[in-house]
Amino acid sequence: MIQKARNILVTSALPYANGPIHIGHMVEYIQTDIWVRFQKMRGNQCLYVCADDAHGTPIMLRARKEGIEPEALIARVSEEHKADFADFNVGFDNYHSTHSDENRYYASLIYQRNKDKGNIANRTITQAYDPIEEMFLPDRFIKGECPKCGAQDQYGDNCEVCGASYSPNELKNPVSAVSGATPVDRDSEHYFFKLANFEDMLKEWTRGGHLQAEVANKLSEWFEAGLHEWDISRDAPYFGFEIPDHPGKYFYVWLDAPIGYMASFKNLCDRTPGLEFDAFWSKDSSAELYHFIGKDIIYFHALFWPAMLHGADFRTPTAVFSHGFLTVDGQKMSKSRGTFIKARTYLDNLNPEYLRYYFAAKLGAGIEDIDLNLDDFLARVNSDLVGKVVNIASRCAGFINKRFEGKLANKLEDTALFESFTATGNQIAECYEKREFSKAVREIMALADRANQYIDEKKPWVIAKETGREQELHEVCTLGLNLFRLLIGFLRPILPATADKSEAFLQVQPISWDDLEQPLLGHTIDAFKPLMTRIENSQIDAIVEASKVDLEKQEPSTVKTSEPLPQDPICDTIEYPDFAKVDLRVVKIIKAEQVDGAEKLLQLTLDLGGETRNVFAGIKSAYAPEDLVGKLTVMVANLAPRKMRFGVSEGMVLAAGPGGKELFILTPDSGATPGMRVK
Ligand code: MSP
Ligand code: ZN
Repeated sequence: MIQKARNILVTSALPYANGPIHIGHMVEYIQTDIWVRFQKMRGNQCLYVCADDAHGTPIMLRARKEGIEPEALIARVSEEHKADFADFNVGFDNYHSTHSDENRYYASLIYQRNKDKGNIANRTITQAYDPIEEMFLPDRFIKGECPKCGAQDQYGDNCEVCGASYSPNELKNPVSAVSGATPVDRDSEHYFFKLANFEDMLKEWTRGGHLQAEVANKLSEWFEAGLHEWDISRDAPYFGFEIPDHPGKYFYVWLDAPIGYMASFKNLCDRTPGLEFDAFWSKDSSAELYHFIGKDIIYFHALFWPAMLHGADFRTPTAVFSHGFLTVDGQKMSKSRGTFIKARTYLDNLNPEYLRYYFAAKLGAGIEDIDLNLDDFLARVNSDLVGKVVNIASRCAGFINKRFEGKLANKLEDTALFESFTATGNQIAECYEKREFSKAVREIMALADRANQYIDEKKPWVIAKETGREQELHEVCTLGLNLFRLLIGFLRPILPATADKSEAFLQVQPISWDDLEQPLLGHTIDAFKPLMTRIENSQIDAIVEASKVDLEKQEPSTVKTSEPLPQDPICDTIEYPDFAKVDLRVVKIIKAEQVDGAEKLLQLTLDLGGETRNVFAGIKSAYAPEDLVGKLTVMVANLAPRKMRFGVSEGMVLAAGPGGKELFILTPDSGATPGMRVK
């Protein structure tokens, strides 16, 4: 099969430069990296570029809080990100920054060309302004009471308690999360990208096979909702690029972020002889361009980005590949449960190839969320990689080394078996190409089972003891190692470091897909060294523990969020008899359960020292039921029972905190027992 080598440019979304990489991000970079490594193994020219997304208000405020310039912050974070990616064996051909000359150039160019074509509008809008910090406030930096349910301390765009969406001016008692000041309305001129000008082009593009079917369907809904003008400008102070000819006005971070893909590629071209920017980005380019992204940023990549490119006479992407979100043990990653795991915390404890393998084993071409079940992770890596794949080599290598001076036989014991493996290679390649990695892994593991079965049947350890069967022993072990080599070749995109080590042991060059047609015969190999060790439970526990510690050590959040007091001042003074009416008791949580259909509630059974109570507590966002059982806490024991949708709640447990993950139930000091009154 002779195929012309393809020219492919691949990107992953650019991570924000204000925080660490976590294992949720890694789903994307590992998925992309596997695909890119596969393309390279096929002999295609495939380039993988990325960058830090370095602009925007959160980064500006974070730098300010640390007392450093934004440039210093993004330089530091960039080093951290690069180290995390390198240690996970993510092989970028270039990693750049959106705060770069190349990006300023292309952002201005794309803006200017669109402006010349009448795709940019300007008008004055009214926005919330922080009079103390002298800055306009993004929705996320305004907090107040939810206009629908009255919950305190909600963001300007939606309520985490009742889920309502609204605009910041609907919030009651709004405050700036930056200074605590009450925002005022202020007018400012903004620039807009006229997305509706691209309606026909976008309809055609989004339905033209450039998106997954489920994504294209989602977009149809957005078309029905109408394509609105997109606000692409922000006022000073802002960390970003000033808009040409409009001093004090900056490009909104999401305008120049995707242009960062071009900028990173341009930066690569400038130091790679023969690599032409235009060959990949001009309108008539025959190269392929793919963006891997999470499902949360589809709007930007499937509408704004192709429209901006089209309006500026650049090519549009060949495809945008979206993926789902990572959950850990079936739930959103959680700092309190220790499942919000930073890339670095993982790397401090475990081999990156394990996670690469596990994600591959779970990833398909769709946008479903994928779950990292920690028990399953351990079991699967130990049984598949250590128990099956590596085991084949360790079962055969010793004989070759000791009995045949490290030299493979000139013939395989069973050529048909070898050929049945190579024949599966095409199917595996097709799975990789279509991003059906879990299917590829399934095929590969079925082959690993067959290889082990072969060795079980031939029993080289028995043959080795019998005289006159030298040749057979030699050919059986040679086949075993050849099957191992094929498996490693097939797994190479997923396990690049293990493949490197295996190639060193086999004394071969990095395996390409074409190499997998022919057996390795009469060739001298090196001594076998263990390629991988089992995961121990203690390593997983250490990661979860370290991630929990992270929460305690966590610096206060990005913004100088308002201290609790100014937002929630002390209530009016009461007399002691009023307080004494509240009967507070120490209780033991003896049962905690999820409530079917309830988003916020857990059902608790509380032991008051002989008597039990049923209480529904709105703490599901912060606690897993299993973490609560056995704990002592404090309840209001004489609160009138309240009928709720799920049953009657007989009291209330006490907790502090704004809500969401930040909810903390009270615990008495050790020695207290259920039933004791709190006075
Ligand atoms: N800076 C923007 C992207 C700009 S692209 C021109 C951004 N950054 S991010 O750091 O929030 O996310 C980077 C990528 O990681 C996104 O594609 C996002 O969907 C993905 N993920 C972030 N958290 C994730 C999970 N928990 N699970 C899977 N992917 C996740 O968005
Ligand atoms: Zn609400």
